[in-house]
Amino acid sequence: MKKGKFITFEGCDGCGKSTQLKLLSDYLTEQDVPHIFTREPGGGKISEAIREILLNGKNSEMTDACEALLYAAARVQHLHDRVQPALDEGKLVVCDRYVDSSFAYQAYARGLGVDFIGKINAYAIENYSPDVTIFIDLSPEDAFKRKHGADENDRLEQAGMEFHKRVYEGYLEIAKKESRVAVIDGKQTPDGVFESVLKVLKDRNCL
Ligand code: TYD
Repeated sequence: MKKGKFITFEGCDGCGKSTQLKLLSDYLTEQDVPHIFTREPGGGKISEAIREILLNGKNSEMTDACEALLYAAARVQHLHDRVQPALDEGKLVVCDRYVDSSFAYQAYARGLGVDFIGKINAYAIENYSPDVTIFIDLSPEDAFKRKHGADENDRLEQAGMEFHKRVYEGYLEIAKKESRVAVIDGKQTPDGVFESVLKVLKDRNCL
């Protein structure tokens, strides 16, 4: 039976998510809040092995549907291995990306559509809906400026600006539809973003 809260972080590549996760990790440790940090794809032996297949730049012949199914498969294993046990212990679970990434990247940007992505992620959607999803709102143009260009070894980052713009539009669509998604202005300073993150988590009774 789920007792802990489940928080997910979403955003375009380079939106500043990692910095916010680090700040939150320091904060939770300082405040003695029992928690775990985890990430998708990954967060366990089998899921990390799937991650390596997904993000390996050499796998360029992978079909979009195969990609989407691998993300969904990694997710089910991750929920079983890490998320459920921590929730059972009453811990706060903070996850770097979750099912909204599959909607933004695979449904919207790859064009597989929300029906297909909804179906293959039904297990996650029906059983593990996040209590809050923090969406760090930074356009890919602004994000890539900060990152000084794409990482050439990362298969997804090779996909180009048009793809990332569709990812961003996908996120905006999801944020409009889902009240669990809190939109935070990613153009603020890192401290400003973090202040907004803490406010959302407190307002929604996660802290
Ligand atoms: P990662 O290096 O962890 O990127 P980031 O630091 O931006 O989170 O790589 C994860 C990549 O996987 C990222 O480009 C988004 C993508 N992704 C999907 O396309 N679908 C998904 O369901 C998930 C969880 C991630």
